[in-house]
Amino acid sequence: MFDIHHFDGIIYGADYNPEQWPRETWPEDARLMNEAGVNLVSLGIFSWAHLEARPGHYNFDWLDEVMDLLHQHGIGVNLATATASPPPWLSLKYPDSKPVTADGIRLEVGGRQLYCPSHPAFRSHVRQLTEQIAQRYQGHPALKMWHVNNEYGCHVDQCFCDLCAEEFRTWLRGKYGTLDALNFAWGTAFWSQRYGDWAEIQPPRRAPTYANPTQQLDWRRFSSDNLLTLYRLEAGVLQQITPHLPVTTNFLGFLPGLDYFKWAQEEDVVSLDAYPDPSGSRPHMEAGMSYDLMRSLRGGQRWILMEQAPSAVNWRERNTLKRPGLMRLLNHQALAHGASGLMFFQWRASRAGAEKYHSGMVQHVGPDRSRVWQEVKALGQELKSLRELTEARLPARVAVMFDWNNWWALEIDSKPAALKLMPLVQKWYAALRQLGQNVDFVHPEGDLSGYDVVALPNQYLLAAAGAQNIRSFVERGGTLVSGFFSGIVDEHEHIQLGGYPALLSDVLGLWIEEWLVMQPHEEQQMQLLSSGKTYGVQNWAEVIHVTGAEILATFQQDFIAGQPAVTLHPFGAGQSYYLGGDFTEEAVTDLLEQALTQADVPVCRVPESLNVTLSALGDDRVLHLLNVHPTQSLQVGLPEGGTRFENGAPLPQAITLPPYGVLLARYSRAVRINELNIVAEASARLAGR
Ligand code: GAL
Repeated sequence: MFDIHHFDGIIYGADYNPEQWPRETWPEDARLMNEAGVNLVSLGIFSWAHLEARPGHYNFDWLDEVMDLLHQHGIGVNLATATASPPPWLSLKYPDSKPVTADGIRLEVGGRQLYCPSHPAFRSHVRQLTEQIAQRYQGHPALKMWHVNNEYGCHVDQCFCDLCAEEFRTWLRGKYGTLDALNFAWGTAFWSQRYGDWAEIQPPRRAPTYANPTQQLDWRRFSSDNLLTLYRLEAGVLQQITPHLPVTTNFLGFLPGLDYFKWAQEEDVVSLDAYPDPSGSRPHMEAGMSYDLMRSLRGGQRWILMEQAPSAVNWRERNTLKRPGLMRLLNHQALAHGASGLMFFQWRASRAGAEKYHSGMVQHVGPDRSRVWQEVKALGQELKSLRELTEARLPARVAVMFDWNNWWALEIDSKPAALKLMPLVQKWYAALRQLGQNVDFVHPEGDLSGYDVVALPNQYLLAAAGAQNIRSFVERGGTLVSGFFSGIVDEHEHIQLGGYPALLSDVLGLWIEEWLVMQPHEEQQMQLLSSGKTYGVQNWAEVIHVTGAEILATFQQDFIAGQPAVTLHPFGAGQSYYLGGDFTEEAVTDLLEQALTQADVPVCRVPESLNVTLSALGDDRVLHLLNVHPTQSLQVGLPEGGTRFENGAPLPQAITLPPYGVLLARYSRAVRINELNIVAEASARLAGR
């Protein structure tokens, strides 16, 4: 169980790697941590080689000393199981514990995360190390929670070795029971792929041409599950030895390799590493989308930002620093979207190794002459006045449907076009955020009952249970907004026959005959019948036949000119919108606005540079406004009756939010987002003032 009250307010801290520094540095570290308001550090993540320098020879002296020192300074520890990077002796002793790529290349020593998740000796060393650590520190007063491994699947999310092939077969036997069932699911009547013996089945290694799509899909499912087995091994040890302590492993947002909906159910609290690119066109959208996913994974439970960069990272082609004020702003954003903890990678910037140019809370120049340190310290202070935020919830009336199975299936080769899921989800997410919505992500089989609107940017793979869930949602009065190429295949990636999307055809009041895939130079437009407004269409348009749906917009070019592009269909007590092409963000925004408004969901047009969330704190509401623009101020008309969250001072009717400015307004009534009035984007001025 995770309970934030066992921590000292909002969690604030970093990865701490004392083994990289002489021990004289440690007391200074602890003193500076106190100065910065640090109350938790993640310790020992990459310490395996230091804790077990030779097989079975453990040395915990240095870790004892660090744990005691931290405790003396009132700093809690999120203790790692230290299994993230096996020491070189392990790879030398068990050469087949090194993972293998789809091309058959065995990866080598010198980096990190060098392990095959199926290797029996690796697993047993992992178990022993976890047991040793848990037994030794179970009663230590500094120990607050467990950090299992680190970023599973970050570098190696699939291992194609023979051991994994064998585990894959076992997993398939468990799933299908018989070869007949597998042959049916994989559609092996095609290309003479029929299997007569389990031993014939292989991972989708490099093949002469397209590997069987269902083999590929099951392989992705297996690879996620196989790493989850490894996580369970460690988490199981910890839960047995310290049942009272929360367990987490740090996620990576929209990581392709791991089905986090499944993973999150096996930890006590979700934690996230987020590194939005400060030079990206809208880092806050990128970050916000991950934050909202993390909150959604465990039904709205608040989560921990486990890692973020204090300033620059080291692993992009060009590593932009965080300009004055941006680090604070992004931390406020995490709080606004449901974080209860704000941690950095890392405490002290390394002196050697591949990450020496990665920023730290303590930079190479030392604390006294460092801007980053000043900002880190100021944030630590500020958090003390915000601790009540850890009790806030973020009610959302709209959810975006998301599923790793669909992501994997959509991006398997040999499709009508090489579609990518992320840009579609990003577009729809940005549209909803710019309509002032708190956004949840929901699994196709998740609970939809709390939402007024469910948006499907794309749900290419939709199993019968998911389709039934959507159908009941609309029947009960919900509003569905579905994007193109949705509901096409079942869980085996078999086409649902009879006119796409067969399982939702009556819900949408239409069927689709074919897809018109467009080349980059081809142009298409669609026009709204109500307003006459036209929008560009790229990549994809559909040949749609309505069977009851109202036509809201038509395509303008080619042989589909005049035919439906957007439709609306009443179904049960609800209704369904269908967007039959790859539309611009403007079009998606306008159409979602219509759907939300019709569903009685308050909407507010929010400029891209304003990050808005509205949370519930008991009966109160908290409006969190962040100006993410580096140089422009924003003038905002506020709902009446607000006070400043930090000190209760009454707020004026209108405020100017400077570049990177933050406003937290509290209301003792249920304010609605449409009471907000963005007056103007005001004059340019330098950030951080
Ligand atoms: C994370 C990782 C950290 C560190 C950081 C650098 O992915 O967990 O150990 O490498 O990136 O940005």
